[in-house]
Amino acid sequence: MRWTVGSACVVAGLVASMAGLTMAVRSEPAKADPDLSDPRLAFQTAEAVVYPDTNPFTVEKAALGRRLFFDPALSGAGTLSCASCHEPSRGWGDNRPRGIGEIGTAMKVRTPTLLHAASAPILGWDGKFSSLENVTFTPITSPAVMNLPESVLIQRLRGDADYVRDFALAFPSGAITRTSIEQALATYQRTIRPGQSAFDRWIAGDARAISLRAQNGFRLFTGKARCAECHSGAAFTDASFHDIGIAQGEDIGRGRYFPSSRMLRYAFKTPTLRDVAIRAPYMHDGSVATLEGVIDHYDRGGIDRPSRAVEVRALGLTPSEKADLLAFLKTLTGTTPPDAPGAPSPR
Ligand code: HEC
Ligand code: HEC
Repeated sequence: MRWTVGSACVVAGLVASMAGLTMAVRSEPAKADPDLSDPRLAFQTAEAVVYPDTNPFTVEKAALGRRLFFDPALSGAGTLSCASCHEPSRGWGDNRPRGIGEIGTAMKVRTPTLLHAASAPILGWDGKFSSLENVTFTPITSPAVMNLPESVLIQRLRGDADYVRDFALAFPSGAITRTSIEQALATYQRTIRPGQSAFDRWIAGDARAISLRAQNGFRLFTGKARCAECHSGAAFTDASFHDIGIAQGEDIGRGRYFPSSRMLRYAFKTPTLRDVAIRAPYMHDGSVATLEGVIDHYDRGGIDRPSRAVEVRALGLTPSEKADLLAFLKTLTGTTPPDAPGAPSPR
């Protein structure tokens, strides 16, 4: 892993217990004598989740974080929770082109999935957040999102006997502060993991788990169509920023922080493709309605300009190849969304 956080402890056992697959893949190679040129190998090992030394995992903290995540008391009028936009049954997104905040205004960008949040080294479409802890109060206090001042939230929680008890269980001091709220929500989100997909069963050795069409789609994905240049590894992202020739207008993405960079103008974070088929519409601005539309976009190559990534240029896919790629993308949908260990189910 390129982005292990300092001396942070890696709770590999926890990952394995929640995705039985990880263990299977780690302990037994797919073949006795693995063919190292097999492109499937690059997608096998799930990324280890790193709990920072400053905020280690505990069941009580994850359970408290889960409660906060699903609680509309975190918004001004008590109508929106984190899960209103990051809905487990919608691939931890909301199926809207833009997030819609409590007062009904559309946000500038689409709600991203949280399926990669646990291992992502940097968060936000333009990389504006450095950690999960660091995200927390931006949605809570933004008038266009949850619209609740920090001091009002803290007062609310301190006035609730159940929360007073749960914070006392989760933190030695029992303090209800900005930091303890951030730590509990971040710990819960680090437990969010994609469910096992047909693709996972296929790379673990079940040759019939996905169709021949989808298998050909995977060959295109890692070959001719160049998708895996960016959508790489078990999470299908390089966690980096690219202009894929889609963005237009004022939002220049990562370029905002690097105004002199040619390549970061219109660059946005490569999203994970886990559960992608149930997360329409697509892209940071929700501008592409369907997966067919996404494939057509890459086939055409998008807007030709100096910042466009070199891997993105017209592909010349046949209709049958496009159907193969689509079939492959559909194999990435996991089974039921997993939930925090030791916590009651959200549904
Ligand atoms: C109104 C919809 C909405 C609500 C409510 C909301 N979010 Fe989000 N969330 C978004 C949008 C839109 C973004 C993308 C923001 C950006 O990239 O600038 C986002 C981004 C994130 C990210 C970064 C994910 C990534 O991979 O880059 C995390 C983590 C996150 N939200 C957690 C939360 C938490 C925790 C809460 C509750 C305290 C919450 N969100 C409430 C819409 C929402
Ligand atoms: C140069 C890196 C790069 C390559 C090559 C690439 N992608 Fe992407 N992909 C991205 C980035 C960056 C985004 C987000 C762009 C945005 O939001 O504006 C994205 C978005 C997507 C999305 C939308 C996901 C979502 O949640 O919105 C899908 C689906 C997708 N790509 C599939 C593919 C396929 C299929 C290929 C090959 C034909 C491919 N990508 C090639 C970087 C890449």
